[in-house]
Amino acid sequence: DWTPEHILEELLRGVQERVGGERVLLAVSGGVDSSTLALLLAKSGVDHLAVFVDHGLLRLGEREEVEGALRALGVNLLVVDAKARFLKALKGVEDPEEKRRRIGHTFVEVFQEVARSQGPFRFLAQGTLYPDVIESAGEKGAAKIKSHHNVGGLPEDLGFELLEPFRLLFKDEVRELALLLGLPDPLRLRHPFPGPGLAVRILGEVTEERLEILRRADDLFTSLLKEWGLYDQVAQALAVLTPLRSVGVAGDERRYGHVLALRAVTTEDFMTADWARLPLEFLDEAARRITQKVPEVGRVVYDITAKPPATIEWE
Ligand code: XMP
Repeated sequence: DWTPEHILEELLRGVQERVGGERVLLAVSGGVDSSTLALLLAKSGVDHLAVFVDHGLLRLGEREEVEGALRALGVNLLVVDAKARFLKALKGVEDPEEKRRRIGHTFVEVFQEVARSQGPFRFLAQGTLYPDVIESAGEKGAAKIKSHHNVGGLPEDLGFELLEPFRLLFKDEVRELALLLGLPDPLRLRHPFPGPGLAVRILGEVTEERLEILRRADDLFTSLLKEWGLYDQVAQALAVLTPLRSVGVAGDERRYGHVLALRAVTTEDFMTADWARLPLEFLDEAARRITQKVPEVGRVVYDITAKPPATIEWE
């Protein structure tokens, strides 16, 4: 019978047999799939290098959390600080698809430089799951709504042999493997986060200042969801910084602050989604806390649009 223990054993044996004494390179994003893959490689004992590209579009404390957890579990991790490079690539860019394109392009560039300077590597490991395999088979010719960029999206012609141990698994099974391999719960049960990160949650140009505002607001929203025991009841929760400014009062002065949108959704498969009926008391506290602790935000709104017609992200 296919218990998670049994699957793990099979995967470990498969990796050891295929890789032998060769070297494996992989990119980790902090998401469950790539983190679990890194742990699998570490546990299998093969010679590996996990690369975490810090594009500066991460959530508060995310890099440190991933770094700490993976290193503690024996992953050979290289963190590349590429913040300045990504910000430069995004300078002046407002179009969502152009943002994704530039981020994807910069990511591949940085990753290839690492591959060259740390190489040679025979294998490139990717955390491709069964639904990704199906989806990309079905995607050919179909109109795509967004050009998803993520670390599983490295081009196939980088000159490596692909190692995709999870290609027959579903997300739930990877979460079970993650549990067996010791991935801490906050990482294991974390909501999905887009590869282009906070860049697609800032409408308009991405700047360091806007990133900082969004990062703080996002952290307050997420922390509050956890405090209220609501985090695990929604599939994804996010904050979006809009380029709108609205008027408010601070003391006896008029002040223009950012309009920040909060969104939380329930969904089975992320193809369709409904907005989460969060308690009004919760929303009230979120708005108060965010405007108090992030004074650049003047107004907080809650998104009550389903997918379709809206998407989960705002860009
Ligand atoms: P949408 O916004 O299309 O999102 O309803 C569906 C799911 O995909 C995530 N998403 C992305 N993930 N790169 C990613 O890796 C992307 O460019 C991207 N855009 C959206 C989104 O967060 C949601 O989980």
